[in-house]
Amino acid sequence: MKNNKPILVLNNIWKSFGGMMSLSDVSISVPRNRIKAVIGPNGAGKTTLFNIISGALNPNKGSIIFEGQPINGLPSHKRTFLGIGRTFQTVKLFKQMSVRENVMVGRHCRSSSEFFSCGLRFPKSRIEEKKIAERADAELDFVGAYDMKNQVAGSLPIGLQKTVEVARALATDPKLILLDEPAGGLNDKETERFSELIKKIQERGITVLLVEHDMRLVMNISDEIAVLNYGEKIAEGAPEAIKNNKKVIEAYLG
Ligand SMILES: Nc1ncnc2c1ncn2[C@@H]1O[C@H](COP(=O)(O)OP(=O)(O)OP(=O)(O)O)[C@@H](O)[C@H]1O
Ligand SMILES: [Mg+2]
Repeated sequence: MKNNKPILVLNNIWKSFGGMMSLSDVSISVPRNRIKAVIGPNGAGKTTLFNIISGALNPNKGSIIFEGQPINGLPSHKRTFLGIGRTFQTVKLFKQMSVRENVMVGRHCRSSSEFFSCGLRFPKSRIEEKKIAERADAELDFVGAYDMKNQVAGSLPIGLQKTVEVARALATDPKLILLDEPAGGLNDKETERFSELIKKIQERGITVLLVEHDMRLVMNISDEIAVLNYGEKIAEGAPEAIKNNKKVIEAYLG
């Protein structure tokens, strides 16, 4: 039977930093195998929301339900293991390492000997290491960066670094992938390529939650959009409805 339950549900999330409220009573649910976007002005709380989902931050109040289970308090690496992958608004690659090694780091989170570290140590078994390298190559091929696999990650232009970061997230076998401004700093052609890649990820059966300021990309590929403004959810719905929503136009689109 098809599972129609949302893959992720956030219930009444509150988060403040030193008395400044960054998220106020935000509830969002993410339907399985869809592309959902979170949009809103700078400082609206989008990245904070991603950090709360991935476990980089804990909310002051509210529950996070992934695949029907509460995951509040679980550390990031356990959430990765459950199937939550992510990329970062500011690319976080190991700049001195090769592209392939960077993607292998993602795969280490799945390999038995590296279950808890997800770090830089190489696994004990050579067979395991070979498998990890093969999987890294497959993901690099998937994102269209296979030819760069031996290059030093920090030497690549930003667009390619962002695709490598996606490959690293895919190597963790996510059920849900969080993409924080994948098109930030990219030109039109690169953005177009990224939007094709996001659709390909969805076709693989992975749910996509996306933060993005490029409205053409968001409106073209999203099934649903949630809008944050000053830490509050002010609208949620299909792209057409969001485009024409008065509150959203005033706060962000206008
Ligand atoms: N670690 C932190 N410590 C203190 N304040 C923070 C921290 N992280 C976020 N904030 C504050 O929370 C608010 C929301 O920030 P956040 O980064 O989530 O916004 P955003 O919607 O991602 O914005 P942008 O579109 O610019 O990336 C901002 O006022 C920000 O200064
Ligand atoms: Mg942000």
